[in-house]
Amino acid sequence: MYWKKLSQVEIKNRVEGALNKNLNYRKTNLLGVPASYLDEEQFYIDAPFLEDAPFLKTFIANPNHIGCHTRTHGESEPFFQGTHALEVEVIKLCAEQIFKGEADAQDGYIAPGGTEANIQALWIYRNYYQKEFGAKPEEIAVVYSKDSHYSMPKGANILNIKSILLNVDDETRAIEMADLDAKIKQAQAEGIKYFIVIQNMSTTMFGSVDDVNAVAAYFVENGLEFKLHIDGAFGGFIYPFANPDSPFTFQNPYIDSFTLDGHKMLQTPYGTGIFIIRKGMMEYVETEEAKYVHGKDFTICGSRSGANAVSIWMTLMNYGSMGWHVRMEQLLDRTSLLCDKLTKMGVEYYRNPFVNIVTIKADYISSAIAKKYHLVADSPENTKWWKIVVMSHVTAGMLDQFVTEMRAERKGIVKG
Ligand SMILES: Cc1ncc(COP(=O)(O)O)c(C=O)c1O
Repeated sequence: MYWKKLSQVEIKNRVEGALNKNLNYRKTNLLGVPASYLDEEQFYIDAPFLEDAPFLKTFIANPNHIGCHTRTHGESEPFFQGTHALEVEVIKLCAEQIFKGEADAQDGYIAPGGTEANIQALWIYRNYYQKEFGAKPEEIAVVYSKDSHYSMPKGANILNIKSILLNVDDETRAIEMADLDAKIKQAQAEGIKYFIVIQNMSTTMFGSVDDVNAVAAYFVENGLEFKLHIDGAFGGFIYPFANPDSPFTFQNPYIDSFTLDGHKMLQTPYGTGIFIIRKGMMEYVETEEAKYVHGKDFTICGSRSGANAVSIWMTLMNYGSMGWHVRMEQLLDRTSLLCDKLTKMGVEYYRNPFVNIVTIKADYISSAIAKKYHLVADSPENTKWWKIVVMSHVTAGMLDQFVTEMRAERKGIVKG
């Protein structure tokens, strides 16, 4: 995995160059589009700081990135081709560098978030089964563990397809293969023939990572019709950097698509989900009726701000692959330090070594401390686990203070 770091000046010049290739609402006779620059009273263009703020400048210029530009680059909305090209670079970088895809073999777009990217995958695979196999919605099911994100049942509900919810082991959080086998057999008996399998490259609550090879092998060995989507909304920008042997790549022939989220680990603004899929699949959700959109539309959301794509591009370029590796290693080191202290205190917790989430059994921690440190519960009504996510703002000092209070409490000397 390698991409070069760019200097701040290079980043600024590239973004400005991209904006100059877009049509400027102020300088062009742009009469036909229902859009303009942002309201001048609220978002004035002549603020001096904008000169050195390429993201804000893009935000105010307000380019629309409607459509899927990896697929239709050159023909999609000609007005904003400069910033579309930066979006294409982002998708290519994630698909080819982070997920080891072949050159130009993947499509994708910047989605509003992980939820849409996950539902986009379900939508594509549902339509694929309908078109290629004449499948009825009731013959299609989404298969996912109970630790998966709620966008899976939400998507199944919107698309009117079934859900198959798999049990996980309480301690290891691994999918129980016997439960998978039983539930798939039961689903087949009920008439389900087509499966959309979700594997997590880090779950929301535990940071657990599914055994994608074992699950794919089950579907292959049983001769089942399946498509495999990876939810890397949380783990996408950390797990592949931490685990050099990650099985979550396009080199794995069974993996069809990925979700990532810039607005989690990458610290880009909300609105920076990323959807990536092998070429030849986006076509299953082409909206023919989108006649006024050059290049047509292939996404759930339609219009979206080009500034989001630019923010991801800038962040990835600012670090380069090596800088990003180091940044993620630092978070993982801090996470390991916390785990080490918890282990020494005899506290039970769950942690995947390549992920910066630590989930502590509720028996070991008072709700007062959990509330004071704003830990997140697996379920507010029946809390069994509390989680800590070691993000950039979670300093070693904060973690030390937390551990000290926990230790004091465990010795029965509750402080302040
Ligand atoms: C694993 C996982 N998938 C999907 C999502 C949904 O992402 P978003 O909130 O960006 O829609 C999340 C959010 O926490 C997540 O952790």
